[in-house]
Amino acid sequence: MTLLRTLQNANHLARALPRIVDVVRDGRTIVAGSSVEREQALQRLTSPEGVQSVFATVLDVVDPGAGHTAERLFQNARSSSEEVARRIVEGEFRELDDGPHRFSSYARWLADQPSGGWVFLGPRKSGKTSKVRRLAQVLQTKGFRIRAVNVYGHDNPGWIEPVTMDEFFRIADQMAEYMALQPTTWDREAGAIDPEKQRRLERMLDPIRDQVLIVEEASLSLMGSKAQGAREVVAQVVNQARHVNLHVIVIAQMTGAFPPSLVNCDGVFVGRPLGSEPETDRPDNRAIRELWRDAVKAFNNIRREELWPTYPDVRFWAHVHSPSFGKQAGPWKGLMPFERDTDQIGAEHARAADTPPFVSE
Ligand SMILES: Nc1ncnc2c1ncn2[C@@H]1O[C@H](COP(=O)(O)OP(=O)(O)OP(=O)(O)O)[C@@H](O)[C@H]1O
Ligand SMILES: [Mg+2]
Repeated sequence: MTLLRTLQNANHLARALPRIVDVVRDGRTIVAGSSVEREQALQRLTSPEGVQSVFATVLDVVDPGAGHTAERLFQNARSSSEEVARRIVEGEFRELDDGPHRFSSYARWLADQPSGGWVFLGPRKSGKTSKVRRLAQVLQTKGFRIRAVNVYGHDNPGWIEPVTMDEFFRIADQMAEYMALQPTTWDREAGAIDPEKQRRLERMLDPIRDQVLIVEEASLSLMGSKAQGAREVVAQVVNQARHVNLHVIVIAQMTGAFPPSLVNCDGVFVGRPLGSEPETDRPDNRAIRELWRDAVKAFNNIRREELWPTYPDVRFWAHVHSPSFGKQAGPWKGLMPFERDTDQIGAEHARAADTPPFVSE
């Protein structure tokens, strides 16, 4: 009630109000809606002085304690309050979690995932392979085997096990079979699960458990007439991975060749775009267009990132959109740097044991 009155008193907020109240209701994003709406709300939030404390109150209601953080942020950065508000508005509540950087809790979450489907996009030489290897090394320290389809010779740093395309298809078949045999929710609720069948099902997964499987679009395009079928299988596998204790990582310049369902995975990591992708990569698909637009915008402002001086090359960075992050918090969106992958995985083990993942903080 007090909150509502405070908000109503701040009549310059009138148009941003419904959006902010949205947040209070679902406890999710600060400002929902399209980027235009966010932009408008942002302007309203940043223009008048008094708005800052109102905003802090809103945060406090949703997430006790967070309001103080927001207030402190505003005080510390009065001169650049516009930028601070921008980061808060475009981010999620999660960013107020502890950890020195906006992406800290996301990075920690990512490194702790037992399974998942991840897609790395970006133009040629945008650092896709390097970032994927870094993620793979972090997962290797958690006990995953690292395998990649058709990496041989110079392409293989030595710590990746090559998998042939045929083996990859066999894994995909096994996953599909497992998924098809899964008891339905109804079976579960009715207690109709046969324990023996359940054990058989789990054993089916043994050969594919605890692995990270990396697939490059480039290796699929070599398959000629079979490539299209292969891309469909890849999109399916990346979306099923989280159900079967497997990480699947797909690397591609754009989504275009794949079924659009490719991006319904657990996280999409976009390297520095050329800028034309919103118009060239499935412009008819809203979600994919937004992925590129968000990335273009973020990379245009990358020099304002706090860690830019530490990671002063766009190839360190990805713009992340990760719908699976935290059931309550909703998706995580934002820029995140990746340390470069190292040649010696032994050294990596030692380091990863006592430092946070992906970047040294
Ligand atoms: N953070 C970085 N700083 C400096 N150089 C980097 C960084 N990340 C990657 N590189 C270098 O940039 C080049 C391209 O990186 P990488 O191969 O990872 O990109 P890619 O997007 O996979 O390229 P491709 O389109 O050829 O597959 C490589 O020579 C790599 O060593
Ligand atoms: Mg590459």
